[in-house]
Amino acid sequence: MNSPLRVGIAGLGTVGVSLVQVLDRNRNLLKDRCGREIVVTAVNARDQSKDRGIDLGNFIWFDDAVELATSDDIDVFVELIGGEEGAALDASRAALKSGKHLVTANKAMLAKHGVELACAAEAKGLLLNFEAAVAGGIPIIKTIREALTANSIGRIYGILNGTCNYILTRMEREGISFEDCLADAQRLGYAEADPTFDVEGFDTAHKLAILASLCFGTEIAADEIYVEGISSITTADIEAAAELGYRIKLLGVAQRTESGIEQRVHPTMVPVDSTIAQISGVTNAVAIDADIVGQLVMSGPGAGGDATASAVAGDIADIAKCVPGEQKVPALGKLAKDLAPYKKARMRSHEGGYFIRLTVHDHVGVFAAIAGAMSKHEISLESIVQHRADQKEEDGLQTIILITHETTESAVRAALEAIGKESALAGTPQMIRIEK
Ligand code: NAP
Ligand code: HSE
Repeated sequence: MNSPLRVGIAGLGTVGVSLVQVLDRNRNLLKDRCGREIVVTAVNARDQSKDRGIDLGNFIWFDDAVELATSDDIDVFVELIGGEEGAALDASRAALKSGKHLVTANKAMLAKHGVELACAAEAKGLLLNFEAAVAGGIPIIKTIREALTANSIGRIYGILNGTCNYILTRMEREGISFEDCLADAQRLGYAEADPTFDVEGFDTAHKLAILASLCFGTEIAADEIYVEGISSITTADIEAAAELGYRIKLLGVAQRTESGIEQRVHPTMVPVDSTIAQISGVTNAVAIDADIVGQLVMSGPGAGGDATASAVAGDIADIAKCVPGEQKVPALGKLAKDLAPYKKARMRSHEGGYFIRLTVHDHVGVFAAIAGAMSKHEISLESIVQHRADQKEEDGLQTIILITHETTESAVRAALEAIGKESALAGTPQMIRIEK
């Protein structure tokens, strides 16, 4: 029997504690499948005295993540601290430098420093595994990087943030306020330490950037993503979407276009009978359009301790199974030094349908002015809903909802700018893209 694989874990929060429990609970199964034991030898977090509900007595405690990362007591460094810089990055760099394999669930760090870390791992013949960084328990990284190598991928899109999907689902089904849903997501361990990363779309963007790099063989380009979060979505939007046969989801979409790669994160109207519309709660889903296999959709738990620990433990097991000196799959699908430069497609060239919700004063000619602005910018309308008199707001305001046929982002923005100058308009127009 081979010697045990010695694991050091930095970060003992939601994911770190679940990982310690999973490695203990399935110790024999892992030993059987890997041909050797996986043993946690050392741990690190900020506060040694904190009660975490697990026994840390058998592990060496480190106050400093870098010291753990470079310790002779470990073979694998597991980074579960979070954050794109700081202790997480310092310790990850130090681990690779000192010859330790690196496993991380930290999409924020990978979105910014993933290529650098992959280069460092490849230079030393080490593994950088990060299955848990995207879509929690769904094995999407290995699917793209290994199983779909023979496919050319045209588009990847999905629900990549459990917190947002949990919030949107409960707002729709139970009419609960945005704030209360977010508080529950935090209590359940789904949200990031700073939940604005979730609700403003940045967490989805970090994950999308990693997926796009794997799908298109390009450098990770998180700063080039168009990002809108869900904080502006109201129950009025959710109800209007339902009325028109749609559901609102926060999607990350990356696709090849003639002018480059389009990467965008925004609330999206999806047809209520589509697969993606059925994904509820903390569940994530990723859809891939590929030339050989066709369309593939994977769904599963996207956040939470056990879902994430399942993916982290799988990454550790891959290292345990590794034969020393054998060829390893590059972290980003191809050697990091060979990734192509990222060529961005401009968001204004995006083509699709749009949902527009306008609140207007109930004056003669308002509707004609709106229709005129649309027609001036060559936007054709698929449907129009004007609330009937019995649904009229008490203060003389009316709601007009437009669904456009396929058009461009620049045309819609120009039309909304013109409509914005109408004196009859009350409040800011709401615009939500439609993904078919
Ligand atoms: P968390 O509950 O906030 O736990 C973070 C842990 O890091 C805590 O134990 C904290 O120590 C420790 N820590 C913070 N700063 C540190 C420092 N400077 N040095 C050493 N330890 C430090 O976070 P989490 O939810 O487990 O997430 C961990 C990582 O997994 C993040 O990158 C996150 O994005 C990612 N992730 C999370 C989920 C999820 O569902 N939660 C899913 C996928 C990926 P103390 O406990 O002593 O304060
Ligand atoms: N905060 C993230 C989410 C954790 O809600 O999806 C999983 O990456």
